[in-house]
Formats: sequence, C-alpha cells, structure tokens
Amino acid sequence: MHSLTLLGGYDKEGYPEVLDLTLNRGDILCIVGPTGAGKSRLLEDIGCLAQGDTPTGRRVLLDHQVPGEAQRFAIGNRMVAQLSQNMHFIMDISVREFILMHGESRCLDPEEALVDRILRCANQLTGEAIQGDMPLTQLSGGQSRSLMIADTALLSPSPVVLIDELENAGVDRQRALELLVGEDKILLVSTHDPVLALLGDRRLCIQRGAVREVIQTTPAERRNLAFLSAINERFLGLRERLREGALLDFDMPAYFTEGPGIEKEAAPR
Ligand SMILES: Nc1ncnc2c1ncn2[C@@H]1O[C@H](COP(=O)(O)OP(=O)(O)OP(=O)(O)O)[C@@H](O)[C@H]1O
Ligand SMILES: [Mg+2]
Repeated sequence: MHSLTLLGGYDKEGYPEVLDLTLNRGDILCIVGPTGAGKSRLLEDIGCLAQGDTPTGRRVLLDHQVPGEAQRFAIGNRMVAQLSQNMHFIMDISVREFILMHGESRCLDPEEALVDRILRCANQLTGEAIQGDMPLTQLSGGQSRSLMIADTALLSPSPVVLIDELENAGVDRQRALELLVGEDKILLVSTHDPVLALLGDRRLCIQRGAVREVIQTTPAERRNLAFLSAINERFLGLRERLREGALLDFDMPAYFTEGPGIEKEAAPR
C-alpha cells in the first residue's frame, strides 16, 4: 500500500465536507481543532477504513481504490495501527516476553536482538529506562506509550499509524514522530500542541465535524518550529530538574532566551 485518500462526508449539521486528500508513505498529517470538533472521529474513520457507514459519511481509499472486506475487517494484518491515549497493559508477563510474543505473532524469528532493538528505541523516548525483565503491568504511562510506539515502528506491518493526542508527558514526541516516519509510514496525529502541529507537512483544521481547511506548513512556520522546539526543550528540561528534586530558582528569563536555538539572526541594517 502506498497511499491513503480521504473523501469528505458531512459536518455535524449535515452540510457537505469538501475534502479529497491523498497521503503517501512518509507523510505526517496533524489534525487540529477545538475540543469536540471531531478530531478523534476522523482518526476513527481512518481506523475502520470508513465507507460512508460512520456518523460523518466519510470514505477512505487505499491506493485510490475501495478497500476490500478482507482489508477492512482482517484481524492479523491490519492496514492501520492505532495508539490510543489510555494505554494499559493487563498481561502478566515481562517486557521481554511481550516483545518476543509479538515478534512471533508477526511470523518473525524473534530473538534477543529484536528485544534489544525495541528496548533501545523505546528508551530513547522515555526518561527512566525500561528493562526487559520488568513486568509489563508495572510500566508507567509514559513508559507504556514509549514501548508501544517503538513496537509499532519496528514490529507492526501497518503502513498507517494513528495517534490520538500524543501528550507532552513522559514521551519525547518529536523523536517518536521521526521514528515512525523514518519507517516510511503514513502518520496522522491529533494535537493541540504547536510544536507537533508544525512538525507535519500539512495540517487539517476541523470545525463542527468537518475539515474546514488543509493548511500547508509555511517556510516561516518551519523557522518558528526551530524556535518553539528550543523553548519546548527548555520546558522539558524544567520537568527533568523537578523530577530530580532540583530547585527551579535560577534566572528563568535567561534560561529561556539564551543558548542554542534561541539566538535571533542579526537584523539587517
Ligand atoms: N461529521 C460529524 N457528524 C456527526 N457527528 C460527528 C461528526 N464529527 C464528529 N462527530 C461527533 O462529535 C463528537 C465529538 O467528536 P470528537 O470526540 O472526535 O472530538 P475531538 O475533536 O476529538 O475532541 P477533543 O479535543 O476533546 O478530543 C463525537 O461524538 C463524534 O462522533
Ligand atoms: Mg479527541
């Protein structure tokens, strides 16, 4: 599968949604809009490869064709992987056993190298390292999410990945998105966060149940992204210090306005 096409349905008042958008592998599309506007609904439409049979009436094509029943309802080889906001493991096994089991179900030849690869990847996204012998149920929220992102990037065959609100807690989100896109997947992320929204090539603005605009990230926005990322890094740095029990009593304005990523280009005279 190379492309996914979204075709408009109807907004909450029943007016037609003007939408015909094709995404290719390696694309990141962010979804923004007010609370209750229909961001999660759009992700669900993609998740079930809607064919006019959801509340929005939207349709989803794969490689410009209507997906067959087998593609829509297959359990083993799903086209779409979904990372929901509330992840809880309930299996009473270790992280290592979980990865090996998942590898086996993907018909890979699972071995310790696979466990190492996924753990190394997950541990790039989270603060306190996940160990292979930890029980799955004892991972924190951020650790669980990081493990699932690494697992989805490296083990899941699904070419489309949906993430509903990758929050700013416990997961290095920018690295997570880079990781997934590096694996040549189509990535859709709903977010209220400017750093994530500008990271995509395009973003969909949703209001009252329909896509109102497809906004192409502009060069000026890309430049601002570098600045926002630098600010974000600093903010995350404060969290790190809090976690370590340090005081936040230093010169905050200087902390936020000096150093890498912040320097203003000299204005032309
Ligand atoms: N086009 C539509 N027609 C009918 N109902 C819709 C439409 N779009 C969304 N809805 C419904 O509106 C409700 C709110 O949508 P949704 O949960 O997707 O909002 P959201 O943008 O994800 O909000 P939040 O930011 O709070 O997560 C849901 O019940 C959803 O099914
Ligand atoms: Mg939502």
